[in-house]
Amino acid sequence: MGNAPFSLKGRVALVTGASRGLGLAMAQALGEAGAFVIVNGRDPASLDAAVARLTAAGVAAAAVAFDVTDAQARRAGVAQAAALRGRLDILVGNAGVQHRAPLAAWTEADFDRVVESNMTACFFLAQLCAPHMKAGGYGRVIFTTSVNALLGRETIHAYVASKHGLLGLTRSLSTELGRDGITCNAIAPGYFMTEMNEALRADGSFVEKIAARTALGRWGEPAELGGACVYLASEAAGYVTGQQIVVDGGMTSAICL
Ligand SMILES: NC(=O)c1ccc[n+]([C@@H]2O[C@H](COP(=O)([O-])OP(=O)(O)OC[C@H]3O[C@@H](n4cnc5c(N)ncnc54)[C@H](OP(=O)(O)O)[C@@H]3O)[C@@H](O)[C@H]2O)c1
Repeated sequence: MGNAPFSLKGRVALVTGASRGLGLAMAQALGEAGAFVIVNGRDPASLDAAVARLTAAGVAAAAVAFDVTDAQARRAGVAQAAALRGRLDILVGNAGVQHRAPLAAWTEADFDRVVESNMTACFFLAQLCAPHMKAGGYGRVIFTTSVNALLGRETIHAYVASKHGLLGLTRSLSTELGRDGITCNAIAPGYFMTEMNEALRADGSFVEKIAARTALGRWGEPAELGGACVYLASEAAGYVTGQQIVVDGGMTSAICL
């Protein structure tokens, strides 16, 4: 290990779902630690805005737009990302969607869309990125799971299933990728103020309830995921694999009444 074990200088990171929210915050943290960051999402205009924001923060960044659930676009997108700097060291599989409905109202299409976006796409992205990591002699796969990889909740059945599944994939992929020196870990956020939670945040009593059952007494700020992401992406975490770091303000570690 070098004398700057948290430095990502010279590393290239692809962060999916990074046009806003947690993905953009993690991309910024990786960039501030020295990585060249490639932000992904479906909407090119929002990605351009994200790159402008990162550049203004002094981060070297580029955008590659593709839908992570589209196998062909995914393959082309990873190839394009790897070609930008001739290497790909870090994948943050973060793009995700939510769908809320009572059990009786769920359709198969709704269920499949959530599982494909949140879980299946991450698996195939890791499959596509691993050869580039192996060729470059450095590899970090990081998935964004959720406290819903540990806890169930009414109405978000496919989300809970997808995040439990993604934690399982973190463990299974770590065993196979480990032989090539590639680690695979997950970050499980609690409740953060992003667009995904817009409907929840509109309900003042829900916002209060979440804060009250969190040891730190508040929701998380997206930038607060940066430290865990940089750590897992860095040489400092070289012997850490198959693990999940929960960043939830203490929501799942204590009974807060
Ligand atoms: N916010 C929280 O409190 C929280 C808690 C636990 C876990 N998480 C997880 O953290 C991740 C990010 O959540 P967030 O709150 O930042 O969500 P968000 O604000 O809704 O952002 C989601 C990002 O994913 C992109 N995206 C969605 N579907 C995509 C697809 N098929 N292909 C490519 N990009 C896609 C979106 O861009 P486009 O729409 O332009 O494609 C956007 O950049 C998700 O996996 C979520 O489950 C969030």
